[in-house]
Amino acid sequence: MGCFGATILPFVIVVGAAVAPHANLKRQVSQLRPSYDFVVIGGGTSGLTVANRLSGALASKNTLVIEYGEVRFAPGQFDPPTEWTTPAPDAPPRWTLRSLPNPEMGDRPAVVLAGQAVGGSSTINGMFFDRGSQHDYDAWDQVAGPGPGWNWDSIFPYFKKSVTFTEPSPDVAQLYNYTWDVSAYGGTGPIYSTYSSFQWADQHVLGSAWRDMGVQPTQECAGGHKEGICWVPASQHPVTALRSHAGLGHYANVQPRANYDLLVKHQVVRVVWPNSNPKSGPPLVEVRSLNNNQLFNVTVTGEVILSAGALHTPTVLQRSGIGPESFLQTAGIPVVLDLPGVGSNLQDHSGPMITWNYSQPYDASQFFPLPSEMRNATFKAEATNAFGETPAQGPYTLAGGNSAIFVSLPHLTSSFRQITQKIYQMAAHSTFASYLPADLRTSEPILAGYKEQLLTLASLLEQPSSPSLESPWATSEHPNSQALSFLLHPLSRGTVRLNLSDPLAPPLLDYRAGSNPVDFDMHLAHVRYLRRLLDTPILQALGGFETAPGAAVAADDELLKSYVKEKSFLSFMHPCCTAAMMPKPKGGVVDKKLKVHGAKGLRVVDMSVLPLIPAAHLSATAYAVGEKAADIILGDWS
Ligand SMILES: Cc1cc2nc3c(=O)[nH]c(=O)nc-3n(C[C@H](O)[C@H](O)[C@H](O)COP(=O)(O)OP(=O)(O)OC[C@H]3O[C@@H](n4cnc5c(N)ncnc54)[C@H](O)[C@@H]3O)c2cc1C
Ligand SMILES: *[C@@H]1O[C@H](CO)[C@@H](O)[C@H](O)[C@H]1NC(C)=O
Ligand SMILES: *[C@@H]1O[C@H](CO)[C@@H](O)[C@H](O)[C@H]1NC(C)=O
Ligand SMILES: *[C@@H]1O[C@H](CO)[C@@H](O)[C@H](O)[C@H]1NC(C)=O
Ligand SMILES: *[C@@H]1O[C@H](CO)[C@@H](O)[C@H](O)[C@H]1NC(C)=O
Ligand SMILES: *[C@@H]1O[C@H](CO)[C@@H](O)[C@H](O)[C@H]1NC(C)=O
Repeated sequence: MGCFGATILPFVIVVGAAVAPHANLKRQVSQLRPSYDFVVIGGGTSGLTVANRLSGALASKNTLVIEYGEVRFAPGQFDPPTEWTTPAPDAPPRWTLRSLPNPEMGDRPAVVLAGQAVGGSSTINGMFFDRGSQHDYDAWDQVAGPGPGWNWDSIFPYFKKSVTFTEPSPDVAQLYNYTWDVSAYGGTGPIYSTYSSFQWADQHVLGSAWRDMGVQPTQECAGGHKEGICWVPASQHPVTALRSHAGLGHYANVQPRANYDLLVKHQVVRVVWPNSNPKSGPPLVEVRSLNNNQLFNVTVTGEVILSAGALHTPTVLQRSGIGPESFLQTAGIPVVLDLPGVGSNLQDHSGPMITWNYSQPYDASQFFPLPSEMRNATFKAEATNAFGETPAQGPYTLAGGNSAIFVSLPHLTSSFRQITQKIYQMAAHSTFASYLPADLRTSEPILAGYKEQLLTLASLLEQPSSPSLESPWATSEHPNSQALSFLLHPLSRGTVRLNLSDPLAPPLLDYRAGSNPVDFDMHLAHVRYLRRLLDTPILQALGGFETAPGAAVAADDELLKSYVKEKSFLSFMHPCCTAAMMPKPKGGVVDKKLKVHGAKGLRVVDMSVLPLIPAAHLSATAYAVGEKAADIILGDWS
């Protein structure tokens, strides 16, 4: 396996410094071919997956990827061997978007990052590489309507295809009690995942505590059954331990390839059909040079694949005249297709944390090493040396951590039916309209689609094997003693809209977190459940005591609600669902072949197309969607 290290490491050095990129990397439109068969808008996680697969399978067809950012592969934040929490000086650039204030969350904004480099958000994410539960994809397929499948059985082969998973060695597995099941893997995709040979000495403390609370260890959570205590691999190389991302696996490592071009530092403004007729064939792609602001139309003979991510895909559509009619009119953009779902249906994971402290110092003789040891110069020097070994060893290989609990509503509260009944009632009496964004409350398609989502979610949340809460961890040492609560299936819906004073600027995000009040019922149930951690024998023995929210606050619905409003992270960086795969009469934007309703030669392939956010961090799903999309497109063209 040493050869992998040998091929990746020099690459990082050469391309990270961006010295002499190969000929297929274009920086000016004058370097482009006269036309392209396929143009992919956005060289991110899903987009590069599609571009690699299309250009690899169809040698006679040319593919161009147009990317806003640069080729930047130097290790950045979250990347070994940098400190996990400190951004490296030449970390890949990202957008930092601040949403409008969230009225239900103390008027605080959500702060949302997105990757702005070749590889997209896979170059800056936390490398936590999990898949949703089978229920998530079955629910997606159900609300997406009739047609070829996106249920678990249909997408599982693409999860497998996307990744090469490397098992931990038997002694490492035994040391930490890693469990896995190779039947969830078996693919040889260009993205790598594995388990670190290092864990902090107290990783098992919370594992024991969850078991004391009755959470069951799960052998493998990537095979569709995801409820209980999960080990989750990281998207990193098994030998170098470096980040594995789309910019490497689906671009740099497959170049040079004669029919696969990449244009960087260009913003796609819009797609344009001659005579504004969206049925007339593939559109032109209008790009803007970030260097000199010049506009240029790229000619497309096959089709355009829009993969700018859930925050930017709606901006390209809206600038193209595809979106909610009333909004486009306000913006002064001629309406090409009235699709109210464009930039609507925004979802993300969010939630507060519980925190605790210890009445006595953590016993260092019992636990060595702990994360605080990184302040010990000797330990840190050893860690640096260990990372340089082949294969890489030590704390720098850990990325963010590999463990989380995923708990269903029936397993965390005996009153779960009161919560799901509220959702059924809401759907039956159409009271849900008032929870939608003001300009969508009278849109028949949006109302029909949201009602169907609510009914599907109520039944999803009743499944004992479908998680509602996630809490990840790597250590429980003070001062990092907190357990985050991820609301996995939010009912609130937000919007992404162009900034009318500057349509080329980052969009306006209206997260609307907590706008559907049932989200608070779930947050409260989650926090009350997590608090039980402090009653477990193992945390008691360590002297753990709760610092927030505390018994008095937790006993009172209104106080606990205020706590959630004040403390919640409003984005765990999983925005999605803004060009949803649903039928047009239900507010959908794309059909089950990812084609934009009413348009010819335009598909969307990224995290915008999910109708419902799954119970997972999104990168593994972004690769799987790219893989499956490529097969669908190849089926249409070969
Ligand atoms: C900080 C952070 C941490 C995360 N942590 C995790 C994690 O630990 N595990 C996990 O699984 N997921 C995580 N995620 C989420 C996951 O990485 C993303 O959901 C996923 O990568 C999104 O893939 P995508 O293809 O939809 O979009 P992206 O990968 O974001 O790609 C979109 C691309 O389009 C480009 N673009 C945008 N607009 C234009 C335009 N107009 N013209 C040209 N190009 C354009 C962008 O520059 C970008 O390269 C995290 C995300 C972030 C931001
Ligand atoms: C691993 O599992 C064994 C048997 O269940 C247990 O005795 C041991 O404490 C566990 N070790 C860790 C680090 O969790
Ligand atoms: C691109 O083509 C459209 C439609 O023909 C046209 O309106 C627009 O001006 C063109 N843009 C550029 C930069 O040539
Ligand atoms: C945590 O407890 C320690 C004593 O174990 C104390 O010194 C420290 O101030 C406490 N920190 C907080 C934030 O309560
Ligand atoms: C610092 O790290 C070294 C090397 O691991 C270790 O031997 C030593 O005990 C540590 N010192 C302290 C104070 O933790
Ligand atoms: C919208 O764009 C204008 C002009 O670039 C900018 O000043 C303003 O801050 C943007 N609005 C938001 C909410 O980002």
